Amino acid sequence: MTYDASITKKQFVSKRSWSVARILALGAIAAGALCAQTGQSPIFPWMNANLTPDQRANLVLPELTLDEKIVLIHGQGSPFDDNPGPNTDLSNGGDGLSLGIARLGIPSLQMDGAAYGVRFSGINGRYSTALPSNLALAASWDAEAACAYGALIGKELRAQGYNMSLAGGVNLARELRNGRNFEYHGEDPLLAGVMVGHRVRCEQAQHILAELKHYAVNDQETGRGLLNAAIGRRALRETDLLAFEIGNQIARPGAVMCSYNGVNGDYACENKYLLTDVLKNEWGFSGFVLSDWGGTHSTARSSSAGLDMEQPGEDYYGAAMKAAIQIGRIPTAELDEHVRRILRAEFATGIIDHPVHKSVVDVEAGLETARQLAEQSIVLLKNEGRILPLDPNRIGSIAILGEHADSGMISGGGSAQVDPQGSFTVDWKLHQAVWFPTSPLKSIAAMAPRANVQFASGNDLAAAADLAKRSDVAIVFVHQWCREGADLPSLALPASQDRLIAQVAAANPNTIVVLETGTAVRMPWINQVRGIVEAWYAGSKGGEAVARVLFGEVNPSAKLPLSFPVSESDMPHPEPLALPPAIAAQKRPKNLSQPLYTVTYDKALEVGYKWYDAENKPVLFPFGFGLSYTSFRYANLELTPEGPPDAPTVTVRLTISNTGSRRGTETVEIYATLPASADEPPNRLVGWSRVQLDPGQTTTVRIPIEAKRLSIFDEQTNRWKLVPGRYILRAGGSSRDLPLSAAMDLP
Ligand code: BGC
Repeated sequence: MTYDASITKKQFVSKRSWSVARILALGAIAAGALCAQTGQSPIFPWMNANLTPDQRANLVLPELTLDEKIVLIHGQGSPFDDNPGPNTDLSNGGDGLSLGIARLGIPSLQMDGAAYGVRFSGINGRYSTALPSNLALAASWDAEAACAYGALIGKELRAQGYNMSLAGGVNLARELRNGRNFEYHGEDPLLAGVMVGHRVRCEQAQHILAELKHYAVNDQETGRGLLNAAIGRRALRETDLLAFEIGNQIARPGAVMCSYNGVNGDYACENKYLLTDVLKNEWGFSGFVLSDWGGTHSTARSSSAGLDMEQPGEDYYGAAMKAAIQIGRIPTAELDEHVRRILRAEFATGIIDHPVHKSVVDVEAGLETARQLAEQSIVLLKNEGRILPLDPNRIGSIAILGEHADSGMISGGGSAQVDPQGSFTVDWKLHQAVWFPTSPLKSIAAMAPRANVQFASGNDLAAAADLAKRSDVAIVFVHQWCREGADLPSLALPASQDRLIAQVAAANPNTIVVLETGTAVRMPWINQVRGIVEAWYAGSKGGEAVARVLFGEVNPSAKLPLSFPVSESDMPHPEPLALPPAIAAQKRPKNLSQPLYTVTYDKALEVGYKWYDAENKPVLFPFGFGLSYTSFRYANLELTPEGPPDAPTVTVRLTISNTGSRRGTETVEIYATLPASADEPPNRLVGWSRVQLDPGQTTTVRIPIEAKRLSIFDEQTNRWKLVPGRYILRAGGSSRDLPLSAAMDLP
């Protein structure tokens, strides 16, 4: 008998109740494998890969019974539920399972969390590489890096028997204390959309059905299933939704996951405006919408609004859906549309033509990619007196300080958590913060073989200060742990770590701080230290990557994907959101028909740097900021509008020179100031380009800016439009360092 390798033999033969779904599915697993393994000519007309995904889906649809259609549109329970569904033994061990239809060769969807690497590799007994966080990836500003990121995750998912990934988070970092900012791609919709788009595009190129999430405005964790985000349509389209729009355009994802919260009154997973009017109709999204886990609230309402699949169970899209169809409450055509979208996405992403087979992961290739990506994402924030890069031949002694800096680096928690491989440290004091076994101490010692490199955890402040005092250089590793399900109370590092930095810096003027954070942090000690390096959650090879940056094997080139404010009092909401206790106590939001509590998004266009610019507030480090070990000079900005006058593409040309003594890569950032009548924040990112230059080299950079990047969303006409008037385009190395500007009038 043939069976899919993604199901272990033990699971396959285990005795379970033989529900309709189960019988349908067991064969689905077999059928998928059959076609691929035999390489035979297609046994069903829809197996003809020369047909379009739409044609193929339309051929399957009339073959399906009502029961089979229902099976396709819901999950089989979560492995974490107290009472998991009867078919969870068919699961590959991931976050979700949606059964296929055996007799027609439609495979089951084996879904797994894969934000920065494949989750649950441990359960499968397989290896998975932990990459730097998604926020770290965004700091590279590099579409090719995003592609390498997605491709690696896609390969490792398949090797572990998964064909669908739950990742692609692109909510904007509107609230810096959001516990999931590390899973997202920063505060700017263009940067975030481009980075997530290329990540998902390349993940799908591995024949993985991938998604964008959490659609939309799930910008904080506090009360995520209870809150309604009240936000004006124009702001919605120009901020949070724009990131999804761009991501969708680049990746053409198989799926979009709707979020837990409500938007303008309706829960996101039953929000017709979001799901049907915008996503499907305006943007032409041809995949399916699945709910976040437990984010479905109804049957008929959700179905007509455009929710195609309930996850992880069948509270609303199982028996209730079948009954609604049978009594005619929901038209069959509506159900067919859900099914068609699911099938279409399966054909389009190639998971039917290329069934998964478990295989051995290429560990070394994975680690090499992880290291390169970490090196591309580490941001050099401060380098006073050029303390960095360190010269191993000139340093006699180095103190390495900070909890676990001898053994590992911290990672982001929740459903994104990648299981650590090999030895690891779980810090139970912090509940379950997971540290990957990548030792900064060992990596630094290897870079400086002649130096005396010593470690102190900092738990004993006096001992740490003493070691720092006896050393030529002190490097302090500090961390901020973020996870799904909770927001940070503030942007402060845990207090003991601020004290450690202050004490070490008082003992040794040559102090360098390495930050391992999931979002921005406050830095009360900023003027006491000479070097600051933002390593984010750096993944499986973080230790080596940091060491290579510190010693100049790598010239840092990353730039901040979010602003670092001076303190929370400068943020749009100085205090974290506090829900009334009666609302916070609500246990089962999925039973609610309306969100309970409305948060009004004022000045909603002003996300991140747009807020600090509009309010004229100083920041600690601006969006787009990052130092290099070399320096760059910008000159000769020219603008050339081309194409139709009402929608021109503006080509920005400038020259950039490497004026330092090392090869380096600069991200040239272009911002636009729209005419005053547009009523926009002062500056918006409209494009960028990464250029590598040798010392003394000058090159011309050409960056095309499409009209939409300069447009505003007009609520009256429901379209993007260019406002007539004077546009100023600025170029430089961060949102607050724009030495070049040029004006242009558009009719
Ligand atoms: C998260 C999703 C995730 C799902 C499955 C939910 O709690 O919000 O991002 O994909 O769990 O793990």
